[in-house]
Amino acid sequence: MDKDIDDVAVDYEMSEDEKTILRELGVFGESRRKFLGKVGTGGASLLALQLLAEQEALAAETGEPLTSAFGPRFENALKVTLKVNGEKKSLEVDSRMTLLDALRERLALTGTKKGCDRGQCGSCTVIVEGERVLSCLALAATCEGKDVTTIEGLAEGDSLHPLQAAFIKYDAFQCGYCTPGQICSSVALLDEAKNGELSHVSDEIPEKAAPVDLSDDEIRERMSGNLCRCGAYPNILKAIQEVEGGREVAQTWSFYNSAKEGSDETV
Ligand code: FES
Ligand code: FES
Repeated sequence: MDKDIDDVAVDYEMSEDEKTILRELGVFGESRRKFLGKVGTGGASLLALQLLAEQEALAAETGEPLTSAFGPRFENALKVTLKVNGEKKSLEVDSRMTLLDALRERLALTGTKKGCDRGQCGSCTVIVEGERVLSCLALAATCEGKDVTTIEGLAEGDSLHPLQAAFIKYDAFQCGYCTPGQICSSVALLDEAKNGELSHVSDEIPEKAAPVDLSDDEIRERMSGNLCRCGAYPNILKAIQEVEGGREVAQTWSFYNSAKEGSDETV
């Protein structure tokens, strides 16, 4: 619904001068792009940007398509409906918006991380229709009607997904920035192996698709698109091995008991 500047002026206790500046900027009734080209200086610009942010926050909270006091929000707007973590979400997005930005900026699902934003680090990995997808390289518009699972959707209530629990158990992270992507990737990896999907290091090509035995090399190869600046790779490997094999993997570290220095005792 379009708002007149006088309606907004009441809410923000604007002076006549401020109203004049906003009118001259053409905030009302012009496209956002044109508007953003004009804002950039002074208190009136800040006020106008605050208004835009409020509109965005309201839309994210209600899940309703964004309608702005400043007219159409996007030049190439289109409606898209996704099933995110089991819930149907309808959004109006710019046709060029990535799935990553739609999740983080529009649905406030900030568990999915933006690392490189160009398909090289894996921190933005989510699961779309059961397959791993780099959400920074997928357009939201191409996910119409699809099932999207993010890190927020893996646990069931208070029960963590087995891989989430295993990552904690094996201390498979340090700063945690890559972790949502690592976990989503490993969840889909286990399904890929069950479905008999081969990797670059698979030894044999069976005549009929059969579950692939996940050796260390298989796991390393399949997780090679997920980088970890903290170098938690050995522990990530163990976490995946345990969930895959259903058996505990020996930990190679233990806490040093400084109270008993010289005794070699660990706890
Ligand atoms: S943010 Fe998508 S791969 Fe790095
Ligand atoms: S835990 Fe820090 S980047 Fe992986």
